[in-house]
Amino acid sequence: MQKELTVGEVARRAGVAVSTLHFYERRGLIRSNRTVGNQRRYGRDVLRRIAVIRIAQEVGIPLAAIAAALDSLPDGRTPTRQDWAALSTAWRDDLDRRIRQLTDLRDGLTDCIGCGCMSIDRCPLRNPGDRLGEQGSGARRLAPRAG
Ligand code: FES
Repeated sequence: MQKELTVGEVARRAGVAVSTLHFYERRGLIRSNRTVGNQRRYGRDVLRRIAVIRIAQEVGIPLAAIAAALDSLPDGRTPTRQDWAALSTAWRDDLDRRIRQLTDLRDGLTDCIGCGCMSIDRCPLRNPGDRLGEQGSGARRLAPRAG
């Protein structure tokens, strides 16, 4: 059996702060065993797991989504090459969706620059895709509420 790593060894080899490791552990992203003296010990596969977490964070995947993705793996295993291929594909799709949303926001902002009308009818940022128009004509925001 390979020697387990101390928290300091993991921090140094993974290039993260010890406090980050404690944080990841509190969020259920990594696990450690405890020695008789209550010190943390990590299996060597934790380094690959941390690499996956860091890359996912780099591309803006929320920690809760990373934790859910890692939890979805059988027996809580560290992602294999195939696991990583599947996870990264899903995350790329999410990234593409967010890029499209940001591009639409940027394009809407371009129309607003120097305008200042803040019009509910004309302004694409106040009423994206004319959502209010789809609900009917007239002053939709002033329509009486049921009840
Ligand atoms: S502020 Fe006038 S179009 Fe958005």
